[in-house]
Amino acid sequence: MPEDSIPKKSPLDVLVLAAGLGTRMKSGVAKVLHKLDGRPLIAHVCLAATALEPRNIYVVVGHQAEQVQDAVDKELGTGKASLVHQPQQHGTGDAVIAAKDALANAKSTILILSGDVPLVRAETLRGFVNKHKSSSASCTILTIRLENPTGYGRIVRDEAGAFVKIVEQKDANDEERQTREVNAGIYCFDSTKLFAALDKIQPTNSQGEYYLTDVPAILKGDGEEVALYQHSDAREVLGINTRAELAEFENLIRRRTIRRLMLEDGVTFIDPSHAYISAGAKIGRDSIIHPDVHIQGDSVLGEACEIQQGARIVNSSLGNRVAIKDHCLIVDSDIADDCAVGPFAHLRMNAKMEERAVVGNFVEVKKSQIGRGTKSMHLTYLGDATIGENTNIGAGTVTCNYDGKQKHPTVIENNVRIGSDTMLVAPVRVGEGSVTAAGSVVTEDVPPNTLVAGVPAKVKKKLTDA
Ligand code: UD1
Ligand code: MG
Repeated sequence: MPEDSIPKKSPLDVLVLAAGLGTRMKSGVAKVLHKLDGRPLIAHVCLAATALEPRNIYVVVGHQAEQVQDAVDKELGTGKASLVHQPQQHGTGDAVIAAKDALANAKSTILILSGDVPLVRAETLRGFVNKHKSSSASCTILTIRLENPTGYGRIVRDEAGAFVKIVEQKDANDEERQTREVNAGIYCFDSTKLFAALDKIQPTNSQGEYYLTDVPAILKGDGEEVALYQHSDAREVLGINTRAELAEFENLIRRRTIRRLMLEDGVTFIDPSHAYISAGAKIGRDSIIHPDVHIQGDSVLGEACEIQQGARIVNSSLGNRVAIKDHCLIVDSDIADDCAVGPFAHLRMNAKMEERAVVGNFVEVKKSQIGRGTKSMHLTYLGDATIGENTNIGAGTVTCNYDGKQKHPTVIENNVRIGSDTMLVAPVRVGEGSVTAAGSVVTEDVPPNTLVAGVPAKVKKKLTDA
């Protein structure tokens, strides 16, 4: 083995190219920050890379570097990927050169990915890296065959089928353009060989860019072996370059997710083409999803839930047999078995409902806990409240939790009846078994088993001798 060869058991480093603006998106937002299935494109790629357990992940950033960093940190955890800055975007070769300080002496196998190829699966990458490591090639290129190869770099082979070069669409002659085998933009390189060859690339092409795609032919010219690894599922490694492609991918992921939920998990969709379920969501068997329902993020729904038209559930968990009626918004909340919500209810910021609780028409629940069997059926705001069991909250109740400067808590104990149109001026506590009359403005704590009424509410009578 030549001295500068990288041993095949060398560590794996991943380099994700994500510095381009993505002109074809016609956007003020860097392409890799556009969202697919609720996650930035870059996050999809980095998560697939993470599953390979590489030594390091580097992301080459340029446009909107801070936002890309935030997106990567949010999805992977801070510090899981290191950023490399490419000050100006002079092409994919230049992007890799930007990582020279980090990687030129790494003595590793470098897997290069594009930030705009979001569907690539970890299994595919693992097979690809293993193929590279088990061969004597210093570069392996993942290729696909496309009916319509427009826009992609074409793979040129010699008569024996061996690699000759990659030629970009804009530099290809008519014959080369006929080639259906294209470069997916996924490569394995021996690090030392890669950086030695990058010193030789020139921007002598129609775009005046430094192409990474020139490196394999340079290696070949230097007597190195370049291997091609043809992957059969082309769609998995297609890049997103336009908004139309982004929408197609979204559609594809959605159809796959819903099919899996129907066939493997026993979920009923009234109209599968009008349901929007994130790939990360889980739904238990015999649940029924009506049209125009959105279930986003890592939401988890139990068995036999029914989610009616127009509801949106984000990063929330629902137990079994939960009914969500029409047009509810439920964000970062937790709903236990046999609860009912809506129509037109809004739960947010860690709202919690215990078993059999009911939140009805036009009720907003923020950062509050609603005890077992408690009901709040109509036109109510419950914020920063802790409510016990078997309590009834009358129509039009408001926890007045904000004094203009700070939020204050409301506590309502078990077996309370809050009359219609009660204002609970927080901080305030209503004791167990108490009743507020309709229209009360409760400014002071109410002892247990007491009826209060009026503005401000006064004790009217003790309800028992407790
Ligand atoms: C590239 C390949 C092409 C391949 C296709 C597969 C080159 C020259 N061409 O073309 O052969 O078929 O991918 O999807 O590599 N980037 C940077 N810095 C830059 C330029 C680009 O980081 O200066 C990043 C982009 O953000 C993107 C990735 O590199 O994530 C690919 O760039 P893009 O402009 O999309 O290349 P393609 O034209 O798709
Ligand atoms: Mg691209």
